Amino acid sequence: MEIQQIELVHFRNYQELNRTFQPGLNIFVGPNGQGKTNLLEAIALLSGSGSHRDARDPDMVQWQEEFYRIKATGLSSAHPVTLELAYGGERKKLARINGRKLRRMAELSDAINTVVFSPEDLSLVKGSPAQRRRFLDRELAQASPAYGDVLSRYSRLLTQRNAILRGIREGKAKPAELELWDEQITPLAVEVLARRLEGVARIAPHARQIYRGLSREKEELELTYRSSFSLPADRGKWPQVYREKLIERRAEEIARHATLTGPHRDDLQLYLQGREARLYASQGQQRSIALSLKLAEIAFIQQSRGEYPLVLLDDVMSELDPTRREQLLADLDRRQIQVFITTTHLQAFPAELLAKAGIYQVQAGQVSQRDS
Ligand SMILES: Nc1ncnc2c1ncn2[C@@H]1O[C@H](COP(=O)(O)OP(=O)(O)OP(=O)(O)O)[C@@H](O)[C@H]1O
Ligand SMILES: [Mg+2]
Repeated sequence: MEIQQIELVHFRNYQELNRTFQPGLNIFVGPNGQGKTNLLEAIALLSGSGSHRDARDPDMVQWQEEFYRIKATGLSSAHPVTLELAYGGERKKLARINGRKLRRMAELSDAINTVVFSPEDLSLVKGSPAQRRRFLDRELAQASPAYGDVLSRYSRLLTQRNAILRGIREGKAKPAELELWDEQITPLAVEVLARRLEGVARIAPHARQIYRGLSREKEELELTYRSSFSLPADRGKWPQVYREKLIERRAEEIARHATLTGPHRDDLQLYLQGREARLYASQGQQRSIALSLKLAEIAFIQQSRGEYPLVLLDDVMSELDPTRREQLLADLDRRQIQVFITTTHLQAFPAELLAKAGIYQVQAGQVSQRDS
């Protein structure tokens, strides 16, 4: 989708905003704390996988107000689309595509996809397994709303199962009660696993190719998904193997009142020249890997959806060296992707890109178009 216009009401520091955008590059420039990231966050929310800053809805409602509303109009495969997302007031949360009310927020990703790249993503390689799982999950949810659904059902059951484990430890529940939870959680765990493995298999070739281009060397990037239990080649056996693992570790799980096996304990492992990047790659190599993963995500969404996602770059320009920065911008420009970038200065941008970009000055919750 391409966003042509956005309206915000009571969103973060925006009392009311009505702004039109360009098909290609849009740059939000302004001093710290003025609302640049807030505007990007509003756009990211439209794709249905929550705030890229992991903010909760009440935090995004403007202080002293009761609700927020985000509305965007644009084109999806040349058809006009209107998206609405509202939170607060009587109805709590509501999303519509072309006036049609959605059952689940995740369905927004049928109309619009976003890939967000922020400075935290540069630490994807060094960061925690949870950070890498979130990268995979966000990507898979964008490619298919059904994944987001399975994942949230899995997470809910996991919380409940952990509560039972605690109950058993405290003598309030019986070990036999676990059977029911194990039975319910197994198909979900197996499905999350299967989809993640498939996702990794699909982004790996893109990431490898992009990394080769970025490093201009013959270095090989490999991605592997590490499951918390060993998976037999026959997928039909996974549920049984998983159940056995749960039983095997039951005493330990009760003692620690935590589920110790399952996709919530898995990791996306990254290797450079056969060595684990987390431990051996240099700073610059780690940044290139993170960038490759993000660009691979764009390619993956394009393949799954038949349309490029919007790309939101929050404050990353100054974090990248000039060569990578220019490669990135040129690459997005060549593929005619709509891009939204926040920055405090325009110096980081090549003049020829600035000449064709939409440039918007962000100041205390007001956004005005300006010349480069
Ligand atoms: N719910 C809210 N209601 C009103 N204002 C809010 C709310 N949440 C955050 N803000 C304000 O929004 C501003 C931060 O906006 P934002 O994060 O978009 O800044 P920014 O322009 O990206 O700055 P930087 O360049 O430092 O990243 C802060 O001044 C903060 O107080
Ligand atoms: Mg910011």
